[in-house]
Amino acid sequence: MLTLIKNIKGLVQVEDKAKIAVCGKQMAELPCIDNAFLLIENEEIKDFGPMDKCPQSADKIIDAEGRFVLPSFCDSHTHLVYAGSREIEYIDKIKGLSYEEIAERGGGIINSALRLQKASEEELYDDAMQRLESIIKTGTGAVEIKSGYGFTTEAELKILRVIRKLRENSPLTIKANFLGAHGVPLEYKGRIDAFVDKIIEEMIPKVADEGLADFIDVFCDKGFFTVEQTDRMLSEGVKRGLKPKIHANELAASGGIQVGVKYDALSVDHLEYTGEEEIKALLNSHTMPTILPGAAFFLNMPYAPARKMIEAGLPVAMASDFNPGSSPSGNMQLVLTFACVNYKLLPQEAVNATTINTAYAMDVVKDLGSICRGKKANFFITKKIPTIEYLPYFYGENKIERVFLNGKEQ
Ligand code: NIG
Ligand code: FE
Repeated sequence: MLTLIKNIKGLVQVEDKAKIAVCGKQMAELPCIDNAFLLIENEEIKDFGPMDKCPQSADKIIDAEGRFVLPSFCDSHTHLVYAGSREIEYIDKIKGLSYEEIAERGGGIINSALRLQKASEEELYDDAMQRLESIIKTGTGAVEIKSGYGFTTEAELKILRVIRKLRENSPLTIKANFLGAHGVPLEYKGRIDAFVDKIIEEMIPKVADEGLADFIDVFCDKGFFTVEQTDRMLSEGVKRGLKPKIHANELAASGGIQVGVKYDALSVDHLEYTGEEEIKALLNSHTMPTILPGAAFFLNMPYAPARKMIEAGLPVAMASDFNPGSSPSGNMQLVLTFACVNYKLLPQEAVNATTINTAYAMDVVKDLGSICRGKKANFFITKKIPTIEYLPYFYGENKIERVFLNGKEQ
């Protein structure tokens, strides 16, 4: 089956030779072909180029006049399997309580865990599937989903099984991340090391034996897990074949970035508290610095120094952090806007941060993140828009008209 998209106003993020990520000055370069065609064969991108080289025939022809085509967003950091919502805490926040104060009162992650433990696998699956359907419409083509609202071995496995079922039934490319160390259950208060032992001795082996996760994550931050505890858990996870991705430096300069680099983490995420030392550690690594603009916006936190990172020559990725507490949105078009307004990224840098660099951060860059021959045909066609800059500029509205995943229109 050949599908031809013709008369594309701008075909964005094209590459003849696949890159693995873009960093530093390169982030401002967004290769684009004006007046282009894109040819899809079954699930894959077969060819693309300027209209004067456009093939004459195909099984299906779509005229994209006045519209742009982009590779789907890769959302490399979400917690989108959760039970219930937390708008009451949101009101507490408006009244002035901090994220840590809410956590100390049994709110926050603990609140989500208690609700999730009571929810059935079916309910969790149905709710999460609806969230997936909604992020497909706003342009996401691949998503990483973490566990972490379980707290018990049983509930953590329940989340990961839900993610496995989502992966079997959704057209999205899905990666699963085991985040057993997301918070400390009330019964382990003051005995965090005992909970860490349980994660190492009981949870990681079960997750690995059932093949339920690609990655392992730890919330390595002030008031959550220390560098030393993180080190122990990552060491066990890596032994069991799980690649690390770390929550780091959201609440303080926690040492999370350095321990992530030590374990060759795919990414370290959040990064509000990133200084010279952390930048230096990242420069000598394969670890993708990943900023979560939705969480910083929603919690009113300081912004991670994205420009400093780029000026130092680092790559930067940006993901949604979709979760019920700190970022109740998985809309990557909003992430583009936050990237530009709050982090002073150029629209071209923002597109790189949400496509190819997030593809790297979730280990799918071989297949996704750009328009490249042989890659998976996950892309979207915008509505009629004047320029690519219009995407982050005209915020709060879905600028996407048609979505294709695995070569099929959704
Ligand atoms: O990535 N920082 C830790 N975890 C989540 C928040 C989860 C929650 O508040 O429920 C995050 O922002
Ligand atoms: Fe997170």
